[in-house]
This record gives sequence, C-alpha cells and structure tokens, in this order.
Amino acid sequence: MFVIETRRLTLSPLEPDDATRLVELCNDRDIARNTARIDSPYTLEDAQHFIGYAAGAMAGGAEFPFAVRRDGVVVACAGAKPHGENACELGYWVGAKDRGQGVATEAGDAVLQFACARLAPETLTSGHFADNPASGRVLEKLGFKPTGEIMQMHSAGRGETVDTVRLAMPAGAYAPLAPVRIVTAGA
Ligand SMILES: CC(C)(COP(=O)(O)OP(=O)(O)OC[C@H]1O[C@@H](n2cnc3c(N)ncnc32)[C@H](O)[C@@H]1OP(=O)(O)O)[C@@H](O)C(=O)NCCC(=O)NCCS
Repeated sequence: MFVIETRRLTLSPLEPDDATRLVELCNDRDIARNTARIDSPYTLEDAQHFIGYAAGAMAGGAEFPFAVRRDGVVVACAGAKPHGENACELGYWVGAKDRGQGVATEAGDAVLQFACARLAPETLTSGHFADNPASGRVLEKLGFKPTGEIMQMHSAGRGETVDTVRLAMPAGAYAPLAPVRIVTAGA
C-alpha cells in the first residue's frame, strides 16, 4: 500500500472506519453537484461500498483513491486512475470546512507526483464541470491546460449529464509544487 506525505496532509488508503466520516463530508450540495459518482443523499452503505471498491481497485492497480488526512482526520479524497493510451486521470473533492486553504491543490500535487513516480503515464488528464470554476482554478495551478474538448459526463448527484471541460498535460512537463514523501508499506 502507498502513503504520501505532504507539508500538511497525509494521503493513505481509505479504511473501513472512515465510512461515517465520508458520510458526514459527502452529504454536501457542492460535492454532489460537482462530482460524477457521489450519490445524494450519500448513505453509510454508499461509503462502505466505495471503501471496499477503493481497496480492491488500489490492490489491482485499476485506480488509486486516497483519503486525505489532516491531523489524522479525513478532510478530502484525491486519486489517480490510469486510463486509455498510458494516461492517468486526477480526481478530488474537499470537505466544506477545509475549502479555500489550498487543500485540493496540495493533495492534487501529491497525487500527480505519486502517479508520475509509480504509474509512469505519458499524459496527465483531468476535468471539471463547466459551472465549477474553483476546480478549474485548482487544475490551472497544477499546470493543466484545456484540451478544447467539452465532454458530456453524468453526475450521480445531479441525476443528469453536465458539460465537462477537459484538461491535460504531458507527464514530463509536470512541475511539482512542493516536495512529497511516498512511502510503500507492506501488503
Ligand atoms: C473545487 C474544490 C476541490 C476546491 O478545493 P479547495 O481546497 O478549496 O481548493 P484550493 O484552495 O486548493 O484552490 C481553490 C482555488 O480556486 C479559487 N476559487 C474558489 N472559488 C472560485 C470561483 N468561484 N471561481 C474561480 N476560482 C475560484 C480559489 O481562490 C483558489 O485559487 P487561488 O489559490 O488562486 O486563490 C472544492 O471546492 C470541492 O471539493 N468542491 C466540491 C467537489 C468538487 O468540485 N470536486 C472537484 C470535481 S472536478
């Protein structure tokens, strides 16, 4: 398993005990509206299902979803998902009380450094709903550039498809914002 340490945050696998905290954080209008697969309302079963999925996905290398912990408390989630022709997609959300403090940018930087070091993608990709400029700003700070493509993506929380701005950059062009420490622990 992987753990990534940044100046303020520790990114580590989601644990079964994180389920109630996920429920607390994800029953939030902005998270429901601005993500693809977080149902609204978000139940304990939803959280337990996602935590089980995340463990299997990380073990099998299909996806690397991390809990983002600040002083030991989950404040966000961020992850990388390999896809297509050697590309890797960044995704994240931050709990309401911890927004506006650079958490998404710091966690995103950590995930991108992890992805470049351990997954060796050629291209880094991400996207945000067209009416979510704060996420666009996070991706801009991380160095992503709009591809010009607007995709239709389904939002479980909205129950409809939404115009989604796509962004990318060559992995070789990624300039980390701050040093991180990647720890590989036993199975
Ligand atoms: C979008 C989100 C991840 C941002 O998290 P965060 O920790 O507050 O992000 P950061 O503090 O690292 O950076 C936010 C940036 O957006 C800017 N911003 C905030 N609201 C904005 C708006 N309405 N328009 C433009 N920029 C905005 C902030 O000023 C900041 O930029 P700055 O550092 O240049 O001042 C968070 O609000 C969130 O989780 N929202 C709900 C779920 C979501 O949108 N997930 C992303 C799906 S693509």
